[in-house]
Formats: sequence, structure tokens, C-alpha cells
Amino acid sequence: MAGELSPIDKAKFVAAKRAAQFVEDGMRVGLGTGSTAAWLVRCLGEMVRDDGLRIKGVPTSTRTAQLAREVGIEVISLDEAKWLDLTIDGADEFDGELNLIKGGGGALLQEKIVATASDQMVVIADIGKEVETLGAFPLPIEVIPFGWQTTQALVEETLISMDVLGRSSTLRMNGDIPFITDEGNYIMDLHLNRIGNARQLSLVLNQMPGVVENGLFIDICDAVVIGFGDGRVEVRDINAGTIDRDRMDFVETDNLFSDLTD
Ligand code: 5RP
Repeated sequence: MAGELSPIDKAKFVAAKRAAQFVEDGMRVGLGTGSTAAWLVRCLGEMVRDDGLRIKGVPTSTRTAQLAREVGIEVISLDEAKWLDLTIDGADEFDGELNLIKGGGGALLQEKIVATASDQMVVIADIGKEVETLGAFPLPIEVIPFGWQTTQALVEETLISMDVLGRSSTLRMNGDIPFITDEGNYIMDLHLNRIGNARQLSLVLNQMPGVVENGLFIDICDAVVIGFGDGRVEVRDINAGTIDRDRMDFVETDNLFSDLTD
């Protein structure tokens, strides 16, 4: 129940609940991945069940697809949708220009494809994700398994000429074996500490043959819904230049707060 949630989970929940208000009847909606996005999917499921909301959801991972189906959201592929009205997703970091680091959950590739195919991307996050400069959170990049150590060496060498503070990288593991993405690739986490020029870094990383995509989302996010542990939310719209403040109730329904797995 909401009363037993940690402040950070309450913040994630209220951000998700507020962002669900962006979703309108008939929309094709990109559904993000991660614990904050899972709250959103549950909120939307409740709106589908209780309010008769009709939406088609395009999930950004098999995890999200499973949850969306469980809560009663109609799931379609991106190719079936072709274009989306809105994508709502979490983030690992966001800065003042709403540039993001994503991929903490290993779904950055599908997340970036889906967000880029949307009229609007709204990020949902607790206030702890806001940063002055991106890079304290390790930057995930998705790499092809073939020759991954050679790709790693090339990435680390290239970082020497980039405006970053750290250059080490680690292969993400799932126990004793490499973490495998939904696309069958590996994730490498770059420990950069501070990224001085995120746009340049993103372009350079994506030039490397073994790198499929990186977790920097530049000029993709339109608005962020920031949640606080006491129920306050702040909606920052980068295009309109507006900041709206609100407060959300914790509505304790068994459907929303039971058997959370993400
Ligand atoms: C998954 C992501 C997530 O959005 C990001 O890791 C945030 O996750 P959480 O909401 O659990 O903090 O990019 O690839």
C-alpha cells in the first residue's frame, strides 16, 4: 500500500500518476521501462479498467510488454503503430535542458527508437534524478557481443579526447554471465563522472562500429514530471517554458500496489 512505500517510491508513483493525465482517449502511447515506468503502466491499466480509457501501448521492453498486458492495456508493436502520440518513460539523470541519461534498466535502444518515433516524450522521475551536469550515473551503451573487448578498448581510447572526467568502463553482468538486452546485445557502462559535451559524445560513440546506441537522449524529451516523496509534483515543459506545480493523492487500491515486480 502507498503508506508503506519509501519516499523515493512515493515520488516515482506521484510522478507517474501525474504523467498519466497526459494520456488521452485513442492515443498510441510508448511505454517506458523501469520502476517509475512500471507505476505509469499500472496507473494506465487502472484508467483502462475503471474509466474506459482506450489506448494502444507500444512497450520498450519485454518486461514492460508483460506488465502492460497483465494490467489490461492493448499492446501493439511500433511497426503496427508506425508513429506515437506520446511516450512516457523514466530516466537515470536529467539536466536543465531535459537531456537525459537512460539505460539503467538495459532498455535504452528500444526506448530511444520509441521516444524518437513520438510526437512528445515525457520523462517521469523522482527529484533525485535531477543533475547540473550529466555523467555521475554511468552512461550505458549497447554493444554488439562480437568483438566486445575490442570495442571497449576503442571506446576507452576515444574517451581520452572527449570532455569527460573518467574513462573506465565495465561490462554489465547478470550474475556470472553478461547481461543480454532484448536485442541480444551487451551493455557497457561508462564511468565518466562528468560529461562536458553530451551532444558531441553521443555522436562520437554512435560512429563506432561495435556500438549500437548510447544512453544519452539529446533534444528528445519535451517535458519532465518530477515527483517528491510528500506527494508534490512539478511539471517542466521545455518547449512552453512553463513550470506547473501540483499535489497528488495516494489512492490505495489493491490493484496498483500489490505484487509489484519491477
Ligand atoms: C531503463 C531506463 C529507466 O528509465 C531508468 O533506468 C530509470 O529507471 P527507474 O525508473 O527504475 O529509476 O532507462 O533502461
